[in-house]
Amino acid sequence: MTRSIYFVIIPYLSVVLAVAVGLYRYFTDRFSYSSISSQLLENRALFWGSVPWHYGIVLILLAHVFAAAFPDFWKILHNSPLRMLTLEIGGMALGILALIGIIILIMRRILNSKSQAVTSVMDWILLADLLLQISAGVYIALFYRWGSLWYIYTASPWLRSLVSLVPRFDFISPLPWIVRFHAVNAFVVIGLFPFTRLVHIFTVPISYLWRPYQAVIWSHQPQRNDEFLKKGRKFFT
Ligand code: HEM
Repeated sequence: MTRSIYFVIIPYLSVVLAVAVGLYRYFTDRFSYSSISSQLLENRALFWGSVPWHYGIVLILLAHVFAAAFPDFWKILHNSPLRMLTLEIGGMALGILALIGIIILIMRRILNSKSQAVTSVMDWILLADLLLQISAGVYIALFYRWGSLWYIYTASPWLRSLVSLVPRFDFISPLPWIVRFHAVNAFVVIGLFPFTRLVHIFTVPISYLWRPYQAVIWSHQPQRNDEFLKKGRKFFT
């Protein structure tokens, strides 16, 4: 019964919660669908945290999804020891990159009073849970070797069984506790998603590619605007 709660009920509940609350929030409070950027309050630490975090986590999650969706192709990729080593080391490196990024982002919110003031309780909960999730992932990658291979025979069939609505927790329940924690906590992150600024994942601003250029100018520093517009004119004409 406990195993069904962790590996079946929590995953389904989280996904239902994420979709239902996510849609409700989108239709009732669309303006809040954003990362609520704090870039104007502090930019330097944000850059050094945000860039490694996003490059690391996006590529890792793509690899997680790809290996679960196309296990046969992922197996072929592991056919040669060199490719296997490259994937293993690449995953570890990206995991460490994401971990460094999220630590910088958390420290920024702790140490910078302006960023701290705009951080809600839900933001703290989300950041702490993501830090746990990434740390567990990096720990698994470092101490349970060849995870990118055994993932195909354990996590992948479990995730596929959930998607096909015939849940099979026997693929995942015999694994070490840290892997089980990492697997279930992934769904806790999904459940937290609609209550936090994580919803910005669905607002990737692709229209920025074709919308007209905008200048954001200071209202209280006119001389800075003059400098900015002079530079801008040179650049855009
Ligand atoms: C919110 C979702 C998730 C996040 C943010 C996340 C994050 C990470 C990170 C940062 C790593 C270390 C880098 C790497 O080696 O790839 C990792 C590894 C790993 N994750 Fe996840 N993960 C998530 C969901 C899952 C799920 C649902 C499973 C299924 C059990 C899973 C299983 C694994 C395994 C087996 C590894 C080790 C891979 C290796 O050694 O190469 N992850 N994860």
